[in-house]
Amino acid sequence: MKKILVTGALGQIGSELVMKLRELYGKDNVVATDIRKVENDVFGTGPFEILDVTDKQKFLKIARKYNVDTIMHLASLLSATAEEKPLLAWDINMGGLLNGLETARELDAQLFTPSSIGAFGPNTPKQDTPQDTLQRPTTMYGVNKVAGELLCDYYFNKFGVDTRGVRFPGLISYLTPPGGGTTDYAVDIYYHAIKNQSYTSYIDKGTYMDMMYMPDAIDAIIQLMEADGSKLIHRNAFNITAMSVAPEDFARAIQTHIPNFTLKYDVDPVRQAIADSWPNNIDVSAAKQEWGFQPKYDLTSITQDMLEKLGNSSVNKVS
Ligand code: SER
Repeated sequence: MKKILVTGALGQIGSELVMKLRELYGKDNVVATDIRKVENDVFGTGPFEILDVTDKQKFLKIARKYNVDTIMHLASLLSATAEEKPLLAWDINMGGLLNGLETARELDAQLFTPSSIGAFGPNTPKQDTPQDTLQRPTTMYGVNKVAGELLCDYYFNKFGVDTRGVRFPGLISYLTPPGGGTTDYAVDIYYHAIKNQSYTSYIDKGTYMDMMYMPDAIDAIIQLMEADGSKLIHRNAFNITAMSVAPEDFARAIQTHIPNFTLKYDVDPVRQAIADSWPNNIDVSAAKQEWGFQPKYDLTSITQDMLEKLGNSSVNKVS
């Protein structure tokens, strides 16, 4: 990785990934792109270009302009938004990925793109979900993710494009909030804990989903991209996670810092149905064996860091 282009660079993952990549690979060597400009540290620390990933010509033009050897394709709609706007999700999630893959093919570049726990469905084994298992998701997001995993495998096998990817769980972070995901409650709960000492969860009690902290997610991306390609068997869809948690687990962890924190429930049937169709906890042994995946943060350390960072921050606005 010498010259890296990141799409969706102002999103939840992108805004932290770009800063880390600039620190490691040099600020001028990381080209951030996004469909819109919003206030973010990404500006002023290196190159930025406006890019709608469904614009194939512009995607290629920007990649050529900077002569990139790596594409980190993050731009996509998350699960709940994709359920609201399934056709738009297909266009952005599949069209954008195809343009990223074609650009990578043209420039002989490496490509990273995330899959998700959303690539599993209701008849996938819920506990210790194996790396290789049944994938019949019932959401548009899941359909996009499974098709994306297969498309990346296809570009590797057919055209020799060095595609790599992970199945991310819900990602917890304090810098840029996620938007339109099913696991977003796991971020919202910390903002509300600081501001109101209470939170009303749209996901029901006892609903377990996989989660991990953003610094571990960023390290995982870089580690996988730097890994010896000859050792990768599951190139495009490594299960990774740090913990399996339900809303009440977050509440208990928060209460050790904010004893009068209270958790209530007002379940959103759409997002609950999505959550119910996903695994409780996925097996990460392939990622450990093939490229040494090892997250550092657990629920206790995530909670401590989130409350500390948000408590000190002026960004703890709550809607
Ligand atoms: N965090 C994502 C979502 O909830 C899952 O990959 O949509």
